[in-house]
Amino acid sequence: MCGIIGCCGRNDVAASLVEGLKRLEYRGYDSAGMGLIAGNGQMLIRRAVGPVAQLEAALADDFHGTTGVAHTRWATHGVPSVKNAHPHTDASNHVALVHNGIIENYQTIKAFLAAQGIEFRSDTDTEALAQLIGYHYKGDLFEAVRRALLEVQGTYGIAVLDSRHPQMIVCARNGSPLILGIGNSANWVASDATPLAAHTRNVIYLEDGEMAQITPDSYRTSKVISRETVVKTVERIDMEIEQLEKRGYPHFMLKEIHEQPEVIRNVCRGRLNVETGEVRLGGLTIDNRELKKIHRIIISACGTSWHAGLGGEYMLETYARIPVEVEYASEFRYRRPILTPEDLVIVISQSGETADTLAALREAKAQGTSVMGICNVVGSTIARETHFGVYTHAGPEIGVASTKAYTAQLTALALLTLRLGRLHHLMPETAFEIARGIDKLPKQIEQVLENSGQVKKIAEEMSQAPNCLYLGRGFNFPLALEGALKMKEIAYIHAEGYPAAEMKHGPIALIDKGMPVVFIATRDRTYDKIVSNIEETRARGAFVIAIATEGDEQIRKYSDRVIYIPQAMDMLTPIVAAVPLQLLAYYCAVARGCNVDKPRNLAKSVTVE
Ligand code: BG6
Repeated sequence: MCGIIGCCGRNDVAASLVEGLKRLEYRGYDSAGMGLIAGNGQMLIRRAVGPVAQLEAALADDFHGTTGVAHTRWATHGVPSVKNAHPHTDASNHVALVHNGIIENYQTIKAFLAAQGIEFRSDTDTEALAQLIGYHYKGDLFEAVRRALLEVQGTYGIAVLDSRHPQMIVCARNGSPLILGIGNSANWVASDATPLAAHTRNVIYLEDGEMAQITPDSYRTSKVISRETVVKTVERIDMEIEQLEKRGYPHFMLKEIHEQPEVIRNVCRGRLNVETGEVRLGGLTIDNRELKKIHRIIISACGTSWHAGLGGEYMLETYARIPVEVEYASEFRYRRPILTPEDLVIVISQSGETADTLAALREAKAQGTSVMGICNVVGSTIARETHFGVYTHAGPEIGVASTKAYTAQLTALALLTLRLGRLHHLMPETAFEIARGIDKLPKQIEQVLENSGQVKKIAEEMSQAPNCLYLGRGFNFPLALEGALKMKEIAYIHAEGYPAAEMKHGPIALIDKGMPVVFIATRDRTYDKIVSNIEETRARGAFVIAIATEGDEQIRKYSDRVIYIPQAMDMLTPIVAAVPLQLLAYYCAVARGCNVDKPRNLAKSVTVE
């Protein structure tokens, strides 16, 4: 979804807002824009189609001001164009607004205002709100914004400027994330903490239905509907700027793939005792008696997090013997799920802001069910609204296609499996085996990363294929889905993932000569079966790429290319095997000249339903 940022200071803010937008660009990159109040009180607006660099190039030397808002767009209403780029202004050109979210009743508002003689300049839902604020303005910007918000339905994170109030920004949140940054002689507002880390560590998280006014030296927060003042806690963010840099890698995605050994150490630090096979999850604030009452687990998520959830289902059912269902969050609430007090709903989200997953969380809470979160972004909405949870400590993930957050989520689910398994029937020796297996993961992934060169060659061989298939069995089936998603997301190759055996019931019809078929064919109890599946595809001319267990010479007979990975326990193999699949997609995308970190039509977290 879009990224918004604003600053009210004593010095020129244009350059800092551009830097801030670049940090937010993973939220959308269809167009960008900025509004500043110049020293002479005039409202200056600049907008450009495409990435923030286009806007930066369009900023003339005289584009300066000490109060400003900026926006990077992920288009929902109105094609990417200059007229649909934010900020949007009111009829008087005094008010300028940037918005993240969707105004659902914008057509009604537009019709009402048009009847008042107001002309609209864009196709967006957002302009309706800008015009409505102008319509309600009677000298008090805060009140004009509040009155307008009482009439809109939908989601928003907004920041509003008014040239009649040059040292003030009014902002508000409902459904889309919004954070205040409390600085020295400058205060900020932004969609997330990444652009704030360069300026302050002190932040305030706004909740739904809250609004705020910031000036260079003060801020106030209150409820939109009741005007009631809200006393907020200033919290600290522990994000280092270096974490937001590429550190010499050509892309954030490749940097994040290479961070996975350290990330998995972070997920386990202070939680996994390899000697005793014990797991302590500080955020799991319910006691063993309550945990034992859990009769069913429902995992709900979107995208890559959903694939991690599916992997978790195999782990929890196999080793903790608890029935698990995995639900697409976007379907969950509309399917009127049947939940009981003995259920535990687990929502998984890297960003902690995905609207569909948030809605699933709220649905489960509304039915009185305990909700646990597995999130990466500290202080995110989902993390704050769940009853308890586990942070994945993967650090900021900037590449739009998720990599390190995925293996961190699977590792967190493996720790949870160990924790719940020991409460149920998991044998101590199996618990030890799992604990030792988790402890070996970082080294095993380092080994796989050393072999990136071979993966790169294979990727270049398959990079011009229009289609490909990913096949796996058991624990490796969810990973086949994830491998295919990576290839779709960043290389735009139409890839499908399937349970290998399911292939012969239809998808095998897709296979023709030279079509790449990627098999996750590691040595586990499904090995013989998957070798037969490989032969079935070879018989139709497939170009078989096998992810195999090192030392398995037999697989060479059936495959065109083999990528070896170290032997790991069946439930942990997907964490190791994920890396060559991430690299395969990455090098294919590079070979095809795709924008790896900002793939077309995607955004890092989608905060609208
Ligand atoms: C998509 C991202 O917008 O949302 C994916 O492009 C991600 O990478 C999915 O997996 C779910 O996001 P989250 O933050 O809820 O895990």
